[in-house]
Amino acid sequence: TQYKNFILKIIICGTKFSLRQMSVLEILKFPDPRLRTIAKPVDDFGKNLKTLSQDMLDTMYQAPGIGLAATQVNVHIQLIVVDISQTKDEPVILVNPELELSGEILEAEEGCLSLPGIYEKVSRRTIAKVFGQDIEGNDINFTSEGLLAVCIQHEVDHLRGKVFVDYISNLKRSRIKRKLVKNRVA
Ligand code: NI
Repeated sequence: TQYKNFILKIIICGTKFSLRQMSVLEILKFPDPRLRTIAKPVDDFGKNLKTLSQDMLDTMYQAPGIGLAATQVNVHIQLIVVDISQTKDEPVILVNPELELSGEILEAEEGCLSLPGIYEKVSRRTIAKVFGQDIEGNDINFTSEGLLAVCIQHEVDHLRGKVFVDYISNLKRSRIKRKLVKNRVA
């Protein structure tokens, strides 16, 4: 029975955590100048891209966050991962995303894993049509709304070297910069 229990335990661990080793990457923190890098389009849909996207999902879930751009882990290619589900089991991986925005303009509070503890109101469109590729390189397009649309717009901004505090006043942004730098040194 001891042997049986051993096997059972492995199966349980296997389903819950999967047999792949979890890999958490370092997230660049604002005002790191590397966050200003413009990401290059992805044309190689090989093993490295799959590994990176899985590592980014691990990093995002562990943080925890609902979105992460490759830029934030210092890889400057057009790749983002998002999961807005409560259960944290609906990952969306988007490669070379392009957006077509429509709908109303709505102000909502945003945060970012590159600016821990900072939340500011940002105005964005409520509907984002997404064009791009999946992890296999297949063309995809879908319409996102609400939180998903906001999250995708936020992550696509990262790929263009933009962070959400770029939308607020210079004065407020400088104050946030000082606060984050001070917290890091302390
Ligand atoms: Ni962010």
